[in-house]
Amino acid sequence: MTLLDIFPSLRSGMPSRLDSAVWPRDTHYDGDGRITLGGVALADIADQYGTATYVLDEEEVRSRCRTYHKAFPEAEIIYAGKALMIRAVAEWVTQEGLSVDVCSAGELTIALAAGVDPARIVLHGNGKSFDELQAAVRSGVGRVVVDSLTEITLLSALATTPQRVLLRLSPGIDVHGHPAVRTGVLDQKFGFPIGSAMAAEAIDRIMRQPNLTLIGFHCHLGSQIYDPDHYGEAVRRMVGEMARVREDHGVIVTELDLGGGHAVAYRSGDAEMNLPELADVIEDALDAACARHHFPRPSIALEPGRAIVARAGVTLYRVLSIKHIEGGRTYVTVDGGMSDNPRVALYGARYEVVVANRHPCGPHMTATVAGRYCEAGDILATDVRLPADLRPGEVLAVPCTGAYHHSLASSYNSVGRPPIIAVRRGRTRELVRRETTADLLARDIGL
Ligand SMILES: Cc1ncc(COP(=O)(O)O)c(C=O)c1O
Repeated sequence: MTLLDIFPSLRSGMPSRLDSAVWPRDTHYDGDGRITLGGVALADIADQYGTATYVLDEEEVRSRCRTYHKAFPEAEIIYAGKALMIRAVAEWVTQEGLSVDVCSAGELTIALAAGVDPARIVLHGNGKSFDELQAAVRSGVGRVVVDSLTEITLLSALATTPQRVLLRLSPGIDVHGHPAVRTGVLDQKFGFPIGSAMAAEAIDRIMRQPNLTLIGFHCHLGSQIYDPDHYGEAVRRMVGEMARVREDHGVIVTELDLGGGHAVAYRSGDAEMNLPELADVIEDALDAACARHHFPRPSIALEPGRAIVARAGVTLYRVLSIKHIEGGRTYVTVDGGMSDNPRVALYGARYEVVVANRHPCGPHMTATVAGRYCEAGDILATDVRLPADLRPGEVLAVPCTGAYHHSLASSYNSVGRPPIIAVRRGRTRELVRRETTADLLARDIGL
């Protein structure tokens, strides 16, 4: 018999801590007050696989894919693999009918190893090397998103059959966010400024290459965008550019890839992108822009990464120590930190943290969750509410950590990167094993 059995009313306080905007939808408390994901208690995962550990809810990933199809029945949905590129995820999203975007030969290899049809792979990157372009052409990737004039030369030398390409344009739209994630502005490293002489030169050069086929344009406005109107503006500008190509070259390009960047909530109450609203805005903008330019409707592609996998991921840590600084903060140090989650240090990202091995009913304290790495800035969450009686050994869970966590992770301080454990229907499956010191030593060939 647990406290929850005796006082069922306690449950009413729980949902706010497990907001489905932030946690996978199949997150619950079990009879012992422990948090479960996909039918598995997080505390059991911590016991079995150790900590720090990434947990990934397969059904959540799949259902996010379906949500996109429902909201955009006619668009191509291309999963941006940079958010989390592992074989299992590439396989799941492909089974759900998504294409896959890769931005390196490594991601390409993983996608191919997962059985993704090369024709459904899109290659990105502002710095594609000769080898990467060669690997892409040889494997038959469906589209290459051209990002520089040099790349056009290399690609045309490599392609033996007509390679379909999109040209990446920066549409001059400022979504106002962290400077590192504003990729729609003109002065930046990605793409060609829309309407610029350099963009015209790129279009011209591609058109002159018999083994390159310009099928359309691509833009990516940035990250964590919750205002759909930015995409409406992008559609208007990009369709205008498509019409200009028709005027200048007599060619109608047919694809418009609007990139990703759809916001998710990292904490309860954070703004997130409303997909049906986004769909309406894109539709209206397309109707208006195509009518204005008497231009045939292009096919639309979207490239969500974060919005597919972020909310499927939860990271587990164990509390190592608790330190009350006199006149200062209370620091809860855990066995992970900036190596498995560099987003706090990189972008000032904020997270929720909850105790996962019990449902705390008593008083809470305000605490700062610190990582174990030798950097004063290695803080996972500042001023979060945790049980006042928290003890070393307890399991903390951080939701919304499925995107740009594993893929950005490092082995700083020679601590191996965490495993990824999938949950589904009450079972766990290890998708990526923990990086060991033996792995690190195997690369160190200096003696
Ligand atoms: C070209 C491109 N497409 C798609 C994405 C995915 O963005 P998000 O994960 O925010 O949806 C990115 C992210 O940087 C990107 O650079």
